[in-house]
Amino acid sequence: MNDKTYYAILNYGCQMNESDAEHYAGQLEELGYARTEDLFQADVVVVNTCCVRESAELRILGKIGELKNVKAHHPGQVICVAGCMAQKDGAALVKKYPQIDLLLGTSYVNSFKKILQDYLEERRKGVFTSLEVQSSEFEGHRVRESGFSAWVPIMYGCNNFCTYCIVPYVRGRERSRSIENILDEVRTAVANGYKEITLLGQNVDSYGKDFLRNHEEEKLLSVSTAAGEEDKEAWKTEPFAALLKAVDKVPGVERVHFMTSHPRDMSEEVIKTVAGGTHLCEHFHVALQSGSSRILKAMNRGYTRERFLELVKTIRSYIPQASITTDIIVGFPGETEEDFAETCSLVEEVGFDSAFTFIYSKRSGTPAARMKEQVPDDVKHARLEKLMEVQNARSLCINRKLVGQTVEVMAEGPTEKHPETWSGRTRGNKLVLWLQNTPAEDADGNERTVNTAEGSNLPVCPGQLVHVKVESAQTWLVKGSRVD
Ligand code: SAH
Ligand code: SF4
Ligand code: F3S
Repeated sequence: MNDKTYYAILNYGCQMNESDAEHYAGQLEELGYARTEDLFQADVVVVNTCCVRESAELRILGKIGELKNVKAHHPGQVICVAGCMAQKDGAALVKKYPQIDLLLGTSYVNSFKKILQDYLEERRKGVFTSLEVQSSEFEGHRVRESGFSAWVPIMYGCNNFCTYCIVPYVRGRERSRSIENILDEVRTAVANGYKEITLLGQNVDSYGKDFLRNHEEEKLLSVSTAAGEEDKEAWKTEPFAALLKAVDKVPGVERVHFMTSHPRDMSEEVIKTVAGGTHLCEHFHVALQSGSSRILKAMNRGYTRERFLELVKTIRSYIPQASITTDIIVGFPGETEEDFAETCSLVEEVGFDSAFTFIYSKRSGTPAARMKEQVPDDVKHARLEKLMEVQNARSLCINRKLVGQTVEVMAEGPTEKHPETWSGRTRGNKLVLWLQNTPAEDADGNERTVNTAEGSNLPVCPGQLVHVKVESAQTWLVKGSRVD
């Protein structure tokens, strides 16, 4: 029994942060800490932060503020603030919130264990924010949140400098992970029972291009040996497509997702690879950001409305049933009603399965923050609402088309509120609900059997592939019955 505990990582932000949070938890467990859900009792608390929008920052600062009271009850508690906001604000954050003991920028994920050990010996506050110590290799152990679905970063950082975005400043330049390192992690995950792999990067289509730029072809060639019989040329010309093929072949992998794709860089070869793959899911998260070519130019996105539509056409020509999801920003500086109307019409035309929609948030230090013609808040809010209406109507329409079809679903588990209702996801990442007659645990951990006339009696466990016939559709999900 461990007597030292850590609070289940307080995590904010994107999947890359979720992946880093698992790595923090892994290192804490290696040091002998056990996870607790009791913030007041925890000896170590890690807050893994995001700064992509002001709203995220405000929420996180509120939480860090609360930790002052928590620490007052447990003076020995070590509070670590890590991630993108820590990287951005550095020592200023520690000055403002003296309850912070350790501040770790985004490059220090691998060094956390050592930094914490040193801190415990000397109890001297530490601020680590250099981006120079970047490493692209993942080391050590991680404690995954899911029991069947594994995040696997393939690259860190971003070179794109979209004019609104803070990420390149806080995550540094693109560094690909070596193929051996990636495949090792995939194989280990599979050996531990993981069925679904999600390859992560800010721009997955850039995978391996840094090796080529830096004349490190040998890394990609040693790669081809590690991966098996892949054609060496393919690794040099289309490293991401080659990587997808290699991961698809790892025995035991049942589903492979990847995100995020950049419309400027996504190649036909990647689309063809997904079309020809076995476990590669027909799901493309391609961030649109705006439907106006003028705004896309001001955003430094490197593609036009026409190129985006062309890309969608290519995806659908190879994979008609592909699920396409996206990210969109409204209220970028200078966005006129006409520009916004172009975004809405593109959303109509493409028919995204779903879209994350954001109000532009000024990030100081980025070029867009200095642009004149910032859009007033009320206009931004009105546009967001309108865009969500347009997208929700499209999502519902697309989901309704699934009614009557049987879809392959990876079961996730019983829903929190209704244990007889299970949820899972299609290969297109769509949420599916169905009824199971299955023993489930109630809130107190007691097993209780739920039986309903419509519930399936077939056995089920998280990570299992089941088949569900869709009977009804809503904006965010579909419902049906198991038929396998
Ligand atoms: N690299 C990924 C994800 C980056 S962050 C990509 O390019 O798609 C996730 C999303 O946050 C972005 O796609 C963008 O839509 C949004 N975002 C980034 N900076 C923002 C800002 N300053 N204001 C509002 N939304 C922003
Ligand atoms: Fe930000 Fe653009 Fe990089 Fe995405 S591609 S992380 S939006 S700079
Ligand atoms: Fe946020 Fe950093 Fe991700 S700013 S969105 S956690 S890369």
